[in-house]
Amino acid sequence: MRRLRRHPILREMVGRADLTPGDLVAPLFVKAGLTAPEPIPSMPGQFQHTLDSLTREAGGLLESGVRAVILFGIPAVKDPAGSDASAEEGIAQQALRRLTGEFGADLLRIADLCLCEYTDHGHCGIVVGEQIDNDRTLERYRRIAVAQAAAGADLIAPSGMMDGQVGAIREALDGAGFADTPILAYAAKYASGLYAPFREAAESAPAFGDRRTYQMDAAAREEALREVALDVEEGADVIMVKPALPYLDILAAVRARFEVPTAAFQVSGEYAMIKAAAERGWIDERKVALETLTAIRRAGADLILTYFAGEVGRWQRG
Ligand code: PBG
Ligand code: ZN
Repeated sequence: MRRLRRHPILREMVGRADLTPGDLVAPLFVKAGLTAPEPIPSMPGQFQHTLDSLTREAGGLLESGVRAVILFGIPAVKDPAGSDASAEEGIAQQALRRLTGEFGADLLRIADLCLCEYTDHGHCGIVVGEQIDNDRTLERYRRIAVAQAAAGADLIAPSGMMDGQVGAIREALDGAGFADTPILAYAAKYASGLYAPFREAAESAPAFGDRRTYQMDAAAREEALREVALDVEEGADVIMVKPALPYLDILAAVRARFEVPTAAFQVSGEYAMIKAAAERGWIDERKVALETLTAIRRAGADLILTYFAGEVGRWQRG
């Protein structure tokens, strides 16, 4: 075996899970009412952006070879219905229009579709009593999907883990003249402690309870395949597993079972762990970031959502 590993060119040729910035999607946060970008303490190198700094960031990503972003909006005002999420002048819609005007088809704009950044209680759906009402939430998701598509989203990515969300959004998009807008479904999304830095970034921690009545339990296995199968039936164009590294078994199983483009989300906590250990000099950031992303590719991801996207682009361009 070692004969194949001696020459770097041959090593790369026989290696199969290659990692290129073109397969990566950069998550970006945009916050209403900011006058300057605000660093996110638990995610070194990441910011809550203004519309201007978001545009500059996207430009920099394009220069480093990253061609896709997924947007998360943080509104000025939160309410029980998460109204800003579907408003024509909502922060995400403003950002989508801005990026569309600035970069057109050079940049793939993915809109994360959820309510937790927009609701005053921080849950991903409409709260009735202390429960998350599935079908009332779907009514909100329909409106958000149409608002995002109208503002220039190329891909709608529902992340709330409500039952039937993909079907509801598909129907709403088709009915509003957006039959060509594809859906990237957060299909197997686990209730994970690794979302903590994101919730700081998106100011979206639930005010009571947790997300375990809608996101999946870490111990679930076959259930992930059922979730994916349902989303595919409902019309998902791309399916996603999240988080990534601790769920490579799920990613590989999904890849083997479904002939649908598959994404994985290397989430905020995965990023934060690498950053924190590297800051202490305990691991080499670049080596470990590239190693984990390669592992995610090897397990079957066609595209990877990662906060390292820009850095991978810069590293690989030397
Ligand atoms: C919102 C959403 C979350 C993430 C993506 N979309 C947080 C959550 O479910 O609490 C997590 C992303 C990350 O941790 O990087 N539904
Ligand atoms: Zn949510």
